[in-house]
Amino acid sequence: MKAIVRDTYGTADVLRYADVPRPAVGPDQVLVRVRACSLNFADRAALRGEPAVTRLAWGLRRPKEPILGRDVAGTVVEVGAKVTRWQPGDDVFGETEQRGFAEYVAAPADHLARKPAGVAFEQAATLPVAATTALQALRLGGVEAGSRVLVNGASGGVGTFAVQLAADLGAQVTGVCSTRNTELVRSLGAEVVDYTRVDFTRGDRSYDVIVDLAGGHRLAALRRVLAPGGVYLSGSGSGGRVLGPLPHLLTVTALGAVTRQRLLVVAARRDTADLDHLAGLVAAGRITPVIEAVSPLAQAPGVFRALDTDHARGKIVLTCG
Ligand SMILES: NC(=O)c1ccc[n+]([C@@H]2O[C@H](COP(=O)([O-])OP(=O)(O)OC[C@H]3O[C@@H](n4cnc5c(N)ncnc54)[C@H](OP(=O)(O)O)[C@@H]3O)[C@@H](O)[C@H]2O)c1
Repeated sequence: MKAIVRDTYGTADVLRYADVPRPAVGPDQVLVRVRACSLNFADRAALRGEPAVTRLAWGLRRPKEPILGRDVAGTVVEVGAKVTRWQPGDDVFGETEQRGFAEYVAAPADHLARKPAGVAFEQAATLPVAATTALQALRLGGVEAGSRVLVNGASGGVGTFAVQLAADLGAQVTGVCSTRNTELVRSLGAEVVDYTRVDFTRGDRSYDVIVDLAGGHRLAALRRVLAPGGVYLSGSGSGGRVLGPLPHLLTVTALGAVTRQRLLVVAARRDTADLDHLAGLVAAGRITPVIEAVSPLAQAPGVFRALDTDHARGKIVLTCG
């Protein structure tokens, strides 16, 4: 089968479209013929092996895992001996344990949800990491109708879902993005702050919930625009090249233990009930994945190259066959 592989850490230049053996299926796994997969911030970080601390898990000198890719949507073609939930022909989507940027992936059966007929493979492939993170962050923040929610990093993969999900709950949403993305974020249901012109932490408005997907502000400044009893949710994986977001996340956790405002770290986890819920919202037209581009799997190296900045617009999807 074809897959996007790499042997070393690096930029998109280390990626190759190559022939690799089709994966064997374990007893609790299913083999999925991948129809679409989507890129996440974490794939770019894993490609580079940054922050360096992640290499303790991913491989110190070279990556243990040659095939990246977590978000997939496709059709089951084979089931493991212990799997009763799925059968060949079922259309599914979910978060795999890497190896998704390939024509076939062996995925744990309980990581997958059923793809509704009214949701395209390309749409389903955008949901597992980004939409789940947005949904779980808003839930952690207790967002409800009337909540004043600010999403910092509103135009990215997670942010475009966070804005739509918060608006769907009836929240008053403010989205922070750069000039080129203001129209997009407004169209998703948010008032917009263009961070290239205005620093929202210096404004006179306050928010019940801040979903921070971009980082870059001091906690003291963020707390100034957080309502008394408000919730700051740190979801950004950005930071220094060695420790990444760890220092910020430790500060959030430590300070959160002693302040009246709630300061929390978002750590999304796989949840197929959440995937069912999200796919239902898409099928009902209540949220619509923002897809910047759909490209064939073979073009993944070029797509990663173009993405090698922190300025995404929604999701990038790769398709197979
Ligand atoms: N905690 C978790 O479980 C979890 C899960 C998934 C992702 N994440 C983290 O969430 C963050 C966002 O992920 P993503 O997939 O949405 O990334 P993404 O698709 O690459 O989007 C990043 C967005 O950040 C915006 N941005 C860049 N600089 C900014 C600034 N100074 N102020 C405001 N916005 C800025 C960019 O918009 P412009 O082009 O408009 O600047 C871009 O749209 C990442 O740090 C990732 O590690 C966390």
